[in-house]
Amino acid sequence: MHPLIQLLKKKNKLAIGLMSGTSVDSIDAVLVEIAGAGISTRFRQRAFIAHPFPKGFREFVLHNSLPGSGNVETISTLNVLLAQFFADAVHAVARKARIPLSKIDLIGSHGQTVHHLPSPQNFFGTDVRSTLQLGDPSTIAKLTGIVTVGDFRPADMALGGQGAPLVPYFDFIAFRSATKHRALLNIGGIANLTVLPKNCTVNDVRAFDTGPGNMLVDALMKKLYKKDFDRGGSAALDGEILPELITTMFSEPYFAQKPPKSTGRELFGEQFIAKILNLSRGARSQDIIATATEFTPLSVYQQYVRFLQRKFPIDELVVSGGGAHNMFMMEALGRYFSPARVTTSNALGISSDAKEAICFGLLANETIAGNPSNVPAVTGASRPTVLGKICLP
Ligand SMILES: Nc1ncnc2c1ncn2[C@@H]1O[C@H](COP(=O)(O)OP(=O)(O)O)[C@@H](O)[C@H]1O
Ligand SMILES: [Mg+2]
Repeated sequence: MHPLIQLLKKKNKLAIGLMSGTSVDSIDAVLVEIAGAGISTRFRQRAFIAHPFPKGFREFVLHNSLPGSGNVETISTLNVLLAQFFADAVHAVARKARIPLSKIDLIGSHGQTVHHLPSPQNFFGTDVRSTLQLGDPSTIAKLTGIVTVGDFRPADMALGGQGAPLVPYFDFIAFRSATKHRALLNIGGIANLTVLPKNCTVNDVRAFDTGPGNMLVDALMKKLYKKDFDRGGSAALDGEILPELITTMFSEPYFAQKPPKSTGRELFGEQFIAKILNLSRGARSQDIIATATEFTPLSVYQQYVRFLQRKFPIDELVVSGGGAHNMFMMEALGRYFSPARVTTSNALGISSDAKEAICFGLLANETIAGNPSNVPAVTGASRPTVLGKICLP
């Protein structure tokens, strides 16, 4: 039987979701059992791993994500190399769950973003907006023998959307509430906020990238402490806030821009870091880290107040992503959003580390079912649409 017909006939599927975010810290791979599709989807996590990249790989990817230092030869290589790493992660998570690959029905892979250009640029008299995620899905399908869906973002962009954020559809499926205005905050390299008003339909969902998540802190930890990140937020907890630095960071126009909006390293990468270091010359390292750490919860809160609070005063904020491990950020969020309850998604039964990977497993399931999974109210696309490319093994 045709593999897609076989898949369509199955009520319960085993899917693997793969995610590597802007932090390029590891490949998150999750094995989930999925029943149904669309609004009635049910799912259960079976195994999760953060599959490591080789030493130096993060720096290599970041270097090649920048205009000027990236080159077409390494981009071509990375596209396949990443797919090989993703396939390794598939093998590893299946091994952890003690499930043979032959029993796995589907892979959903986000890919590694190396560039995200959601604003129109004029080339040859034509406006073009683009985004590039590496880790070729057809290679993953061939190396694992599993139907693979990848490259979710371009479809939304083709219809005028930002191609991001895509997690809100999953948030709607997994977290909507009949009794509470609930917000979801994922703090990866970039932070994004989803608001699910009480009893919402998918058209009521609001979401946007609020700006940097861990990205600034990670880059500053590298420069000031030669570490990849601030474990637990301990350096920040030793420091004091530098108010002038906060003011300068807010001068980036992105924060005043109305949603729909999405961002990446293009705005909050090297140049932004150079500006911070320049302005904070002479300050103690822990104070610079504390300030950069404070900036994430503060910028989330300020934009919530500006763009959402009046219509959707939230009762609960549910945090996920690596930033959920940063005690300084969690404490600051609790303070800003009080009296709303601030928790991690673990408290609602969904691993805060696995959440985004689970999302891409579920988005692949939607694509196979032929269901749209962008949220036009969030991305700005002209209509709901089916996302991704389906690759047969
Ligand atoms: N124990 C921890 N303490 C503090 N920060 C952490 C911890 N674990 C992860 N992080 C932060 O989370 C980042 C990874 O988060 P993740 O959600 O995987 O982001 P992305 O989606 O961008 O890859 C790391 O780069 C680091 O900044
Ligand atoms: Mg990550």
